[in-house]
Amino acid sequence: MDVLSVTSEIYPLVKTGGLADVAGALPRALAAHDIAMRSLVPGYPQVMAALGKGRVVARFDDLFGDAAQLIAARVEGLDLIVIDAPHLYDRAGGIYVDEAGEDWADNWTRYAALGWVAAELARGLVEGYRPRIIHAHDWQGAMAAAYVAFGGDSTTKVALTIHNIAFQGQFGADIFPHLRLPQAAFDMTGVEYYGGVGFLKGGLRCAHAITTVSPTYALEIQTPEYGMGLEGLLVERSADLYGILNGIDVEAWNPRTDAALAANYAAASTGKRQINTLALAERFGLEMDGGPLFGLVSRLTWQKGIDIVADNVDWLVSLGGRLAVLGSGDGGLEDAMTQAAARHPGRVGFVRGYDENLSHLMQGGADVMLVPSRFEPCGLTQLYGLRYGAVPLVSRVGGLADTVIDANEAAVEAGVATGIQFSPVDGPGLGEAIRRTVSLFHRPAVWSRMQRKGMKTDVSWDRSAEKYAALYTSLLGNQ
Ligand code: ADP
Ligand code: GLC
Repeated sequence: MDVLSVTSEIYPLVKTGGLADVAGALPRALAAHDIAMRSLVPGYPQVMAALGKGRVVARFDDLFGDAAQLIAARVEGLDLIVIDAPHLYDRAGGIYVDEAGEDWADNWTRYAALGWVAAELARGLVEGYRPRIIHAHDWQGAMAAAYVAFGGDSTTKVALTIHNIAFQGQFGADIFPHLRLPQAAFDMTGVEYYGGVGFLKGGLRCAHAITTVSPTYALEIQTPEYGMGLEGLLVERSADLYGILNGIDVEAWNPRTDAALAANYAAASTGKRQINTLALAERFGLEMDGGPLFGLVSRLTWQKGIDIVADNVDWLVSLGGRLAVLGSGDGGLEDAMTQAAARHPGRVGFVRGYDENLSHLMQGGADVMLVPSRFEPCGLTQLYGLRYGAVPLVSRVGGLADTVIDANEAAVEAGVATGIQFSPVDGPGLGEAIRRTVSLFHRPAVWSRMQRKGMKTDVSWDRSAEKYAALYTSLLGNQ
């Protein structure tokens, strides 16, 4: 079965968050189910640089403003179709934002083009390649569903995955005439949203199936608290809405072989983690002692509950904990972390920025992986934590609720606990969870059992890849 994945990022070529990890890992996971997944991606500079030779498979005189071509290539084990369109994607700065951190003003063109090309491929643009299923991701891929629905193509089926409903791709009505959609698409059944154009909204309306990345988030987004205005539409479409948990790439994230670690180890040799802890302490300027080292690897945003962490730093330190923070994001939150580190030399360290290797070392050396998100569609850092024996301390929302088993006394007794959960997601809630974590840490037998249990949890793609495969099959069966 040929499936075309439509994604604005893909690991290892271009990543701003978990979407890249998922888009990069899913093709390999699906290959085991006889699914050939190709990925349609924008030709950003870092993608073009990785391409090498490639083969031109299609040319456009005018792809939303200028000439462009499609290049097929196999890179890092991924089958890519890259949209080589310099006027849309070849620029310095971030992939979504300019050097000043503002959204690119033409993002609507850049991602309309992505969806439009996907629909053209499904209509047979390239001889010998005609995917029957399009699997689009987030608002950047969502327009593929609208272009299929309004393009008179009744054979292609589209699955749209919501990785984060907070990002919806909303634009003014003035862009509509440039979208290459019939006028009929500018209403409730199409891309119209509160008088403007909503890319995610249109996709959710037009896709044949909607998925999101955990069962709990699939329920949450049908409520006003988490649906960000789209809850009504999702309730209407609930019969076609599925929550399928993300897995992780267990090859790239394997403490036995991970080259980014100072020492490799397995569930039976977690003692060696100490060497990583030492390396981590050095990197973050932390003292070595008998208290737990909390690690935080995250975008520094409101979603991730970073302000709640800032509120709890003094408390965490007073309980004998240390904190290592790796991340970047909102200026105010970065400042809060810089100040926390200045207030607690040797106890709190902050590395501002994005560092893939260091993120691995943190999983291999931290005692606790802190994930106190206000909402979390799935979350990957707690899954890496489980696999690496960095016990996750998570808020009870979304995928965090679905992947971590809280160490309440019953679970500890039964030996099934894998981490600590807390709710409500506020300062006192996290404070109490930190207290509980420190006290569990000082029960070495309980702690190491929890670590080992986590390390044995199946966080691979196996089960979820099977669910996606079954979903694609059922979509084709409905024709
Ligand atoms: P989200 O996609 O919402 O940011 P996820 O938990 O799904 O959250 O995925 C985040 C991914 O980005 C993980 O692979 C995590 O390790 C990585 N990551 C986040 N911040 C950093 C950072 N500063 N340096 C390196 N990796 C990071
Ligand atoms: C989004 C979500 C995160 C999820 C990731 C991959 O970025 O915020 O929870 O793990 O997508 O699906």
